[in-house]
Amino acid sequence: MKHETVLLNEAIKALQIKSDGIYVDGTLGGAGHSKLILNQLKNGFLYAFDQDNFAIEFAKNVLKDFSNYQIIKSNFRYIKQELNSRNVKEVDGILLDLGLSSFQIDDEKRGFTYLKDTKLDMRMDQNQELTAEIIVNTYSLEDLAKIFYLYGEEKNGYKIAREIIQKRPLLTTMDLVKITDKINRNEKGHSAKRVFQALRIAVNDELGALEEVIKDGIECLKPGGRMVVITFHSLEDRIVKHYFKEKTTISIPKNLPIQHIPLADYQLITSKPIYPSDSEYEQNSRSKSAKMRVIQRREQ
Ligand SMILES: C[S@@+](CC[C@H](N)C(=O)[O-])C[C@H]1O[C@@H](n2cnc3c(N)ncnc32)[C@H](O)[C@@H]1O
Repeated sequence: MKHETVLLNEAIKALQIKSDGIYVDGTLGGAGHSKLILNQLKNGFLYAFDQDNFAIEFAKNVLKDFSNYQIIKSNFRYIKQELNSRNVKEVDGILLDLGLSSFQIDDEKRGFTYLKDTKLDMRMDQNQELTAEIIVNTYSLEDLAKIFYLYGEEKNGYKIAREIIQKRPLLTTMDLVKITDKINRNEKGHSAKRVFQALRIAVNDELGALEEVIKDGIECLKPGGRMVVITFHSLEDRIVKHYFKEKTTISIPKNLPIQHIPLADYQLITSKPIYPSDSEYEQNSRSKSAKMRVIQRREQ
């Protein structure tokens, strides 16, 4: 099993690594980015987060030749607490390469795929209680429809939710796919794609965790430090785009007699997102939806 890192060189270049700096990889995964960061560090140190045991075991092997790093098995939403508990108040750079590793998607037992008949699980953190099975079998009609609509942009969300409630209990991915096949039979692409995306986001509270990590993460940056975020769908990108814009602009009421306009504490390095190159698109289909945005804490 292998994970093909997306925007590998672009992300590391954007971090502007200092050999004695302290860095955070919020999404260790297959350790492609972490390895390249460590290659550029001499006296520096890397803290790497992942909430998936399998990813951590895999990454330890990839990073076996390095010692100047620590893996933190935690949701990245706790970035500030985890760093503070290690007496780290400020870091030089933070990288987030969101979503799943290929080995999570490809491992049918994890229940992320609608192509295999398997348990409805979808947890990134195997110790978490909430699974996709609990959501589809216990949530109300309104809550299910809302999840499908908001997190999957699934326009038939209400109909699918109603059918789920009639067919309960649903035990496997194919129990759900039979329902989406029926309701979305005239749609292009796989009938379950949007519903699976929505459930995955809900199970792992992916958007809530993203909001927290970018908010707390940029507060942990040293002056001149950067946060680099790679997103894979519009819901994630929208959150990053809006928050970065909010933190890099100062709104001054019109007609206020101000001579020197103060600068925001952060500056936007990417006014437009950075996309993978054509050759990366060709080699790695997962890169097709990737977008990278970068923010920097202003030097004082
Ligand atoms: C796309 S992969 C990262 C791949 C990595 N950059 C590489 O080069 O191999 C995303 C990883 O982040 C982890 N992850 C996603 N959301 C997380 C969260 N909220 N907290 C901690 N880890 C998370 C997933 O378990 C997965 O292993």
